[in-house]
Amino acid sequence: MTREVLGRWLDTGLDRSVVGGYPRFGLAVRRRLPGWPADPEPGALAGRTVVVTGASSGLGVATAAAFADLGAVVRLVVRDVAKGERVAARIGGDVRVARCDVSDVDDVRRFAESIGAVDVLVHNAGALPAARSTTPQGHEVALATHVLGPLLMTELLQPLERVIFVSSGGMYAKKLPLDDPEYTRGEYRGAAAYARTKRIQVALVPHLAERWPGTTVAGMHPGWADTPGIAGSLPGFHRLTKPFLRDARQGADTTVWLGAVRPAPASGLFWHDRRARSPHLVPWTRHSDADSRAMLDWCVAAVGL
Ligand SMILES: NC(=O)c1ccc[n+]([C@@H]2O[C@H](COP(=O)([O-])OP(=O)(O)OC[C@H]3O[C@@H](n4cnc5c(N)ncnc54)[C@H](OP(=O)(O)O)[C@@H]3O)[C@@H](O)[C@H]2O)c1
Repeated sequence: MTREVLGRWLDTGLDRSVVGGYPRFGLAVRRRLPGWPADPEPGALAGRTVVVTGASSGLGVATAAAFADLGAVVRLVVRDVAKGERVAARIGGDVRVARCDVSDVDDVRRFAESIGAVDVLVHNAGALPAARSTTPQGHEVALATHVLGPLLMTELLQPLERVIFVSSGGMYAKKLPLDDPEYTRGEYRGAAAYARTKRIQVALVPHLAERWPGTTVAGMHPGWADTPGIAGSLPGFHRLTKPFLRDARQGADTTVWLGAVRPAPASGLFWHDRRARSPHLVPWTRHSDADSRAMLDWCVAAVGL
């Protein structure tokens, strides 16, 4: 058996075990396995404009900083401009701040008209709501933040070279909520709303690759990384796992790789640690192609496209 085959087995084993692959250990081991995909070349993004949403905290900051290091012109999309300006000053280079609440589709339309040409768009903004709330347009906030706003923004910013949806391994536990995307039925739990909408992101990726044939469309999940988001929304989990969590730069690794490596990775896939991964770990989350298409049709109608 070759070292490459052994390496792929180990890589898959880490993925299936979840607790082996998602913390910093998973990335550290994979980096040493034969066949680990090469880093993007230095200067790979010179002359490119990259937009990162949710760039005022955690993985968004690390992602934006790594893109700036690769020579990109970077736009930090934030809700709090003062917070964004502090991040931009810390990163340095051609990094500027743009305000947008990505859950508010009117704000997304305004933003898309003002930003100019974009090459790479990273949908990193994410939220785990404490209670059910709705946007000015009446959409449940997790759905609007993770799916509706990003869908509309991507469509309005075409042509794009690449778009990356930062999803979550939490989506592996949830089915596509086609019967109730706005989470109007049953007891509302923020963690469930989060995972359901992260599942929608991943289910839409192959269809979005068809919708935008000139764009490399990727979904990914970062593993478990120590960020203000994790500490604030999952304090128990954070306390328990803190010594094992990735740092933000490690959590951003695959996003940056997907955005900058040449040639571009294949479109329409779901990634973790620089490898395409199955979007399902258990059979009961599987959906038909017709269901995920219907989900996209529903979302397209919901944002008025
Ligand atoms: N950290 C992990 O282990 C982990 C694991 C799986 C997936 N993820 C995903 O990775 C992404 C980044 O998470 P993180 O851990 O870095 O969390 P974080 O520290 O809470 O950062 C989230 C960012 O999203 C922004 N945001 C939230 N709602 C927004 C909206 N409506 N419009 C614009 N920006 C908005 C926040 O802005 P404010 O500063 O204004 O709040 C913040 O900058 C998220 O999509 C998350 O689901 C993270």
